[in-house]
Amino acid sequence: MQREDRIGSAPDTPDRTPARVVLASAARLLEAAGLPTPRVDAELLAAHVLGVTRGRLALLDDLGRADRDELDELVARRAAGTPLQHLTGVAYFRHLELTVGPGVFVPRPETELLVDAGRALLSRPDPLVVDLCAGSGALGLAMANETPTARVVLVEHDPAALRYLRANARARQAAGDPPVRVVDADVTTDPLLPELAGTVDLVLTNPPYVPAGTPLPPDVAGADPDRALYGGADGLAVIRPLIRQAARLLRPGGALVLEHDDTHGTAVPRLLVAAGYADVADHRDLAGRDRYSTARCPSAGWKTAPS
Ligand SMILES: C[S@@+](CC[C@H](N)C(=O)[O-])C[C@H]1O[C@@H](n2cnc3c(N)ncnc32)[C@H](O)[C@@H]1O
Repeated sequence: MQREDRIGSAPDTPDRTPARVVLASAARLLEAAGLPTPRVDAELLAAHVLGVTRGRLALLDDLGRADRDELDELVARRAAGTPLQHLTGVAYFRHLELTVGPGVFVPRPETELLVDAGRALLSRPDPLVVDLCAGSGALGLAMANETPTARVVLVEHDPAALRYLRANARARQAAGDPPVRVVDADVTTDPLLPELAGTVDLVLTNPPYVPAGTPLPPDVAGADPDRALYGGADGLAVIRPLIRQAARLLRPGGALVLEHDDTHGTAVPRLLVAAGYADVADHRDLAGRDRYSTARCPSAGWKTAPS
């Protein structure tokens, strides 16, 4: 009789552990590995394994063996430095859930600030917005989501990043956001979007800008593609041509919002002034680091011809 009972039970019923115990143990392991947000990571991994939202974890009683084994494996990989977003396949950016993984840059919280900055600089109800170096599509797709009257063009050149970008663009359209245009092009090479020259209201960009040789935290260096991170010896190798390209694309009064390395709070505004932009300003992120510049294409034409 006892034997029949065991056979008839779900395979993991004799071996269940309270969810709070599993989560506390996962968080301890991640803390011991030196990760900055161990409890949040543990909860997000558990939510991923269980197929529930993080908020619903509190309602769970206990976890069976199979779920615990899967969680243990993910916690071990996270402790070894794999980015959380590569384990869950998802990155949250503004109101969006974007698909990410190896081969594409994981969008960062500080980049979210550029969306507010860009929207504040819009002066027309149906603006044309271009996201240069689009990666997974974070900036451009967030603009399309939050300003549905905008026409959005996203430019990326890396084949792996383009696959994520196209998948995210399709998913956002299926979720009800307006369609966007995805262009495979090198932002440093002319001509870039020649058909849009002088017509763009806003260029948003988070290009590669880390100076070569800068030591990075292991989970950044090992996870994001080098092409997404490094901007040549001084970090400005993509930013210099990009400033020229934006100048060609923008209409008079149009705006550029450009993320940069925290060591470039003076260098990037200088480049913008030298290229003839007006209203050049630099801005900090929530950690107080110099993070992005804003500028406008002067209405009276360029003070100096952008080369
Ligand atoms: C720092 S990532 C930013 C991605 C995205 N904008 C974000 O904020 O999550 C920079 C992106 O620029 C792309 N990239 C680098 N050089 C490029 C180039 N010359 N032309 C087009 N894209 C480029 C990389 O492939 C990468 O996806």
